[in-house]
Amino acid sequence: MKKILITGANGQLGNALRETLPKVEHVECLFASRSEVNIADRKSLEDVKHSYNPDYVINCAAYTAVDKAETDEKNAFSINADALKLIADTFAEAKIIHFSTDYTYHASEGPPIVEEQTTRPQGIYALSKLDGEKILRVCHTRGLIIRTSWVYHHAGHNFVKTMLRLGSERPSLTIVDDQVGAPTYAMDIASMISIIIEKDLNKPYPIEVWNETYNFSNQAEISWYTFAEAIKAETPGFTADLVPVSTEFYGSPAPRPPYSVLSLEKIKRVFGIEIQTWKSSLLKCLERINQ
Ligand SMILES: NC(=O)c1ccc[n+]([C@@H]2O[C@H](COP(=O)([O-])OP(=O)(O)OC[C@H]3O[C@@H](n4cnc5c(N)ncnc54)[C@H](OP(=O)(O)O)[C@@H]3O)[C@@H](O)[C@H]2O)c1
Repeated sequence: MKKILITGANGQLGNALRETLPKVEHVECLFASRSEVNIADRKSLEDVKHSYNPDYVINCAAYTAVDKAETDEKNAFSINADALKLIADTFAEAKIIHFSTDYTYHASEGPPIVEEQTTRPQGIYALSKLDGEKILRVCHTRGLIIRTSWVYHHAGHNFVKTMLRLGSERPSLTIVDDQVGAPTYAMDIASMISIIIEKDLNKPYPIEVWNETYNFSNQAEISWYTFAEAIKAETPGFTADLVPVSTEFYGSPAPRPPYSVLSLEKIKRVFGIEIQTWKSSLLKCLERINQ
């Protein structure tokens, strides 16, 4: 049996992995919430290394409050950047899967962003996430990084859940229409991770495959407004009018990338991952919420 430690296990991605990973044969999992394993605390990591000694570490823990990070720089960097050194050092022999974000690219136009594209992070969250990637690259040789975008889950705090709540409460909702990207259902990320681990167990990937960065999202090129329209169309009782507005009008504290469509060719080619369309994944998520 191979052992997998999942940190940040009570977040969206952690919860999604709770469903998919136990179905992989020949693995056992330790799903650790923040109170069980604090990735910003060396002692906490060392304790779980000694008691569990995982073969794989999937780091779902992160500081994800993008706007709050603008005034909470120290914590954002501690969790999104500095903790990666602690994880890399503590689990020097393990294979690590880590998640990052489309915000590292901060592109303003297409074509879909390839992994080699120059990064131009803006805002504390984006800067801290890119720092974390760089630290992992320097401190570990088997750190697989997944950059993803617009993540939602049927049990998390996210755009879909917010739309469903406000859509029946408010007369109208202003939704940004000039940011284009791809929503990603956390269940699809979790299925993709399970496939990678399953394949690695059958025939271990060479170190060069692990020591790489891969984009992953659902297949899409839509605005938040289009996404909101689709949620509304599928939801009886969603009576709020949707009003398209610009990013500038909306006025979030942290900068948002205008163009966040990720090229998915690399992850498809290397791991044979099939990509789901944004619409089919949204429908699956809404079905789960309505169960
Ligand atoms: N959400 C998105 O739209 C999005 C987009 C692109 C990339 N990503 C990346 O995808 C990954 C997963 O995101 P997500 O949506 O699953 O995030 P999430 O739902 O916010 O979950 C993050 C989890 O990390 C935990 N955590 C925070 N600090 C910790 C620490 N010091 N030690 C251990 N756990 C800690 C949080 O616990 P508490 O709840 O106790 O704080 C939370 O359960 C992150 O790396 C994120 O940057 C997310």
